[in-house]
Amino acid sequence: MGKKIKVAAVGIGNCFSGLIQGIEYYRLHPERTITGIMHNEMAGYSIHDIEFVSAFDVSRKKVGAPLHKAVYAEPNLVKWVKLPESDVIVKSSPVLDGVGLYVKDLIQPINKRPVEQIKEEILQELADSKAEIIVSYLPVGSQKATEFWAEVALEAGTAFINCIPVFIASNIEWRKKFKDKKLPLIGDDIKGQVGATIIHRVLAKIFTDRGVDLESTYQLNVGGNTDFMNMLERSRLESKEISKTNSVQSQLKTPLPKGRIHIGPSDYVEFLGNTKIAFIRLNGRQWGDRPMNLELRLDVDDKSNSGGIVIDAIRAAKIALDRKLGGALYSTSAYLMKTPPQQMSDDEAKEALENFILGKRED
Ligand SMILES: NC(=O)c1ccc[n+]([C@@H]2O[C@H](COP(=O)([O-])OP(=O)(O)OC[C@H]3O[C@@H](n4cnc5c(N)ncnc54)[C@H](O)[C@@H]3O)[C@@H](O)[C@H]2O)c1
Repeated sequence: MGKKIKVAAVGIGNCFSGLIQGIEYYRLHPERTITGIMHNEMAGYSIHDIEFVSAFDVSRKKVGAPLHKAVYAEPNLVKWVKLPESDVIVKSSPVLDGVGLYVKDLIQPINKRPVEQIKEEILQELADSKAEIIVSYLPVGSQKATEFWAEVALEAGTAFINCIPVFIASNIEWRKKFKDKKLPLIGDDIKGQVGATIIHRVLAKIFTDRGVDLESTYQLNVGGNTDFMNMLERSRLESKEISKTNSVQSQLKTPLPKGRIHIGPSDYVEFLGNTKIAFIRLNGRQWGDRPMNLELRLDVDDKSNSGGIVIDAIRAAKIALDRKLGGALYSTSAYLMKTPPQQMSDDEAKEALENFILGKRED
């Protein structure tokens, strides 16, 4: 062992903070079972082989700070463990459409410089740090910023993992660009370990598999971090709603018509912090057309939820790099992402990804 996975992180917010603090937590507590990942070793890679070698943000509280300090900078809320000192300094990313109306005062983006100038610096930093994978944790609604970073990955020759609901891996043109450059691409929109989407998908599938006529369903989510505050700006939400809705629709034999399904972030409740509460309801009809309904309330740490999933995405990207495979990783994306290039049931996707890890399938 001993081969490292060199990763660049974009968006040093709560999700990234939970990911890196989770790795440190397990380093400090080797006696604890690591939960939320597929295997302790994936094709020989453990969670401790992941090294964050460069980091990018736009906030004046984070850019210029060492990574071990930036992860605790306001408005980040994750404070699970203390990180050891890091010599990685957070570098500038162009703001583009990354910072929404509601979070602008909290994030305090650094004044704009020409995008081309920042891009040159980024490419230099990626080369100097020998980053081989870029993980993007940009805010919801960052269409241009995500496209910028996907282009950077193509130019820098790194794999790209898109954790947010902007359609890159699920877009045929972007897939082709990564295939042509023989670079792995995983996306879009990270799932949670046991999050609202996976629970809703499983319930929708049980209704369908057991022959219940699902007539309508909703999923309402509330939380108190910057992700939820940003999502108050409804114009930034289009792709988020499409991604979450299609993820559930994909499990039904016949998709529900518009107006019978409502899934989305619904409000910002400050005191909830990183706790996300999801309310899910399914209304259906059983034998004899008798009505039935199911109500569920999920209460979960939103930032713990996605950490292990991203760890597995990083390791899958590294496996693809080792095997010199390029283009979208279909099985990885189907199992770990809400909007993959090809939807599968969760069982099928897991089996496909296990086969990919074992080298029995190419993507
Ligand atoms: N379970 C989950 O938490 C989950 C699941 C699916 C998707 N996501 C998505 O992951 C993303 C990150 O979530 P989060 O909670 O860390 O958000 P966050 O608001 O805590 O962090 C976002 C970070 O991005 C930075 N940023 C803004 N514009 C930027 C730019 N142009 N370039 C670089 N950095 C920029 C901000 O300064 C901030 O540090 C969100 O889009 C969220 O919806 C999260």
